[in-house]
Amino acid sequence: MIRIKDLVKTFDDSTVLDGVTLDVNAGEIVTVLGASGSGKSTLIRCINGLERPSGGTITVDGNDVTTKAGLAASRRISATVFQLFNLYPHMTALGNITLAPVEVLGKSKAEAEEQARALLAKVGLAGHADKYPQQLSGGQRQRVGICRALAMQPRYILLDEVTSALDPETTGEVLDILQKLATEATTMVFVTHEVAFARSISTRIVFMEAGKLLVDMPTEEFFAENGGLAVPRIRQFLSQIRKD
Ligand SMILES: Nc1ncnc2c1ncn2[C@@H]1O[C@H](COP(=O)(O)OP(=O)(O)OP(=O)(O)O)[C@@H](O)[C@H]1O
Ligand SMILES: [Mg+2]
Repeated sequence: MIRIKDLVKTFDDSTVLDGVTLDVNAGEIVTVLGASGSGKSTLIRCINGLERPSGGTITVDGNDVTTKAGLAASRRISATVFQLFNLYPHMTALGNITLAPVEVLGKSKAEAEEQARALLAKVGLAGHADKYPQQLSGGQRQRVGICRALAMQPRYILLDEVTSALDPETTGEVLDILQKLATEATTMVFVTHEVAFARSISTRIVFMEAGKLLVDMPTEEFFAENGGLAVPRIRQFLSQIRKD
């Protein structure tokens, strides 16, 4: 579904993505791990067209996302959830979730609202449809953000550190929702520092180091002594996390 080949991204003089090649097939849940600054968010931003690659190719379902038409086609089947809740503050939870289905997909307001209420119920927010973002907790807002993404019925979802602004308890709330999603065969590319969660949810793990993909392995292999753990950098990364 997502094919990335020899992707390069430079900002001024610095090379942030240095020849990344990655394929994500339908139904896969690929977690991107790596130290801060290794290029994870830039990779996500190139896939969803927020950054323009300096070299290489990205196609989503055959659409070249560096072209206007290709990006538009890709955006119709995808959704991104970011670290910071970028809900519209002047709209209720329901308003935030129904906006794009009405404006972009051309759904009727009634149909979009019915779907939004079902999604809110699914994430445990049935009674919160008419609240504004500032009336919701961080975890609740992020769950509304996930509903907003799902309302577009995306075939794949990009998630960039969706829990890193949350406390441990609300992180748990959001991870539970993502776990549910994962079992529904949505294709996901997931950037996270939650290694234990990544291990439980992902079909594959890629590890980025200074703009390159250091390893790309099935999850089980990544955590195996003779797999990812045999790579000194991976072992070091995981041991640091375990100390936290
Ligand atoms: N718009 C930009 N202009 C210049 N440099 C940038 C820009 N965006 C990112 N960078 C640089 O690219 C590198 C990779 O950033 P990126 O945000 O992709 O890292 P990351 O792996 O997501 O890190 P983190 O785990 O901290 O979120 C960093 O050195 C960053 O400073
Ligand atoms: Mg990032």
